Amino acid sequence: MKKPWAGRFGATTDKKVEEFTASVAFDRQLAAYDIAGSIAHARTLARAGVLTADETDRLERTLTQIGAEIEAGTFTFRDDLEDVHMNIEAALSQRLGDLGGKLHTGRSRNDQVSVDTRLFVKERAGRAMDGLKRLRLVILDRAEQHIGAVMPGYTHLQPAQPVLLSHWLLAYWEMFHRDAARFRAAGNAADVSPLGSGALAGVPYTLDRDYTAGLLGLSGPTANSMDAVSDRDFILDFLFAAAVTMMHLSRLSEELVIFSTAEFGYVILPDGYATGSSIMPQKKNPDTAELVRGKSGRVYGDLISLLVTMKGLPMTYNRDLQEDKEPLFDAARTVIDCLGVTAGMLAKITFDTDRMSRALAKGFVTATDCADYLVGRGMNFREAHETVGRIVAQLEKEGKGFESLSPERLKEFSALFDRDVIQILTVDSSVQARSVFGGTAPSRVAEMIERATAVEKEDMT
Ligand code: ARG
Repeated sequence: MKKPWAGRFGATTDKKVEEFTASVAFDRQLAAYDIAGSIAHARTLARAGVLTADETDRLERTLTQIGAEIEAGTFTFRDDLEDVHMNIEAALSQRLGDLGGKLHTGRSRNDQVSVDTRLFVKERAGRAMDGLKRLRLVILDRAEQHIGAVMPGYTHLQPAQPVLLSHWLLAYWEMFHRDAARFRAAGNAADVSPLGSGALAGVPYTLDRDYTAGLLGLSGPTANSMDAVSDRDFILDFLFAAAVTMMHLSRLSEELVIFSTAEFGYVILPDGYATGSSIMPQKKNPDTAELVRGKSGRVYGDLISLLVTMKGLPMTYNRDLQEDKEPLFDAARTVIDCLGVTAGMLAKITFDTDRMSRALAKGFVTATDCADYLVGRGMNFREAHETVGRIVAQLEKEGKGFESLSPERLKEFSALFDRDVIQILTVDSSVQARSVFGGTAPSRVAEMIERATAVEKEDMT
């Protein structure tokens, strides 16, 4: 088939080059947006007096029909037609003859591909936000179910201080709530219409660009035609939002991998989300969590890949920009899948709260409370820290925990210790004491569940 640029060329494109430059194998994912953009453009051309009402009607009907065929999988994409835009335009010309050739008036593939990608990003940002919301609701649900259960909190993966299991869960609620704001921002960055920018300088037709934007559900037209066709910031915003979300999912997965080991045993993964070994009959492996953790790497790669592609590109459109799509598609699919599978897994995980409670007996997790007790009795914190450090060192030598201590024994370390210290050393007292805003005290955590629930109700995404 003749290329749209054949007029200027003496020879046909080398077959290898045709294959090398083609993007239809992946950019066909933009087909629905390309059709929507073309319909909006046709209507705008009609307004500008370039197309008659009848022509616009026929174009619109045929475009809709092509869209339906693509959706149904009955449309044949051809590699020699390079990309999704030219495939659709060729089909249009084949069906409508001369009229098909009129659609590209006042348009370039440069503003066309930009509008398609913007619509894609806007839609996928919305889906990622839906996925995040679903995951946050599962987290809230689990936090409500387990309010009261206490687990060891860690720093350096060493037992640190007791925290509520719900507090741990809500930490992830915060992360996934911030992620939604990042996706919202990416969606907003994409939410402008470049149509009317043409190849780079604008077009010599009186296109009502606000009208086009309105038809596409976009907030308005881009303000500079050169920027419009070379800007890919909105994709980078999306990729960054996806990368950070994957980082959070990966950290959660990592904790689930650790917590589901025989050594920790804090969680029991649902059978439906684990896999076995082909040789070791006893195995139940956390593959789902591992794969989510593993896939964060490819999404980081997607972000870096586009950053590097963009670096040093002269204005305006350069073919390098075609390399924006595969990372975008990959990241969008990956993050949406990972959000879905993580929500499903978390909804069905069993938390072994007895096991957590037994783990709290080890690791001297109330040592800070012991030091704070001495501070309450007038000792300075540094000295209190050292005194408790000596107690811990001694008990460690004896292979014992705080529970073995009597007030008399404690007095050997400091005369400031009294009977009431025994109560202070309990896990319950430790969490109760942390009633500062944002702390792990049960009353605070309950408050935070309420607050998060209210946020979920009022903000629908
Ligand atoms: N397939 C191209 C892309 O994804 C479409 C735009 C091509 N424009 C051009 N002037 N070659 O970037």
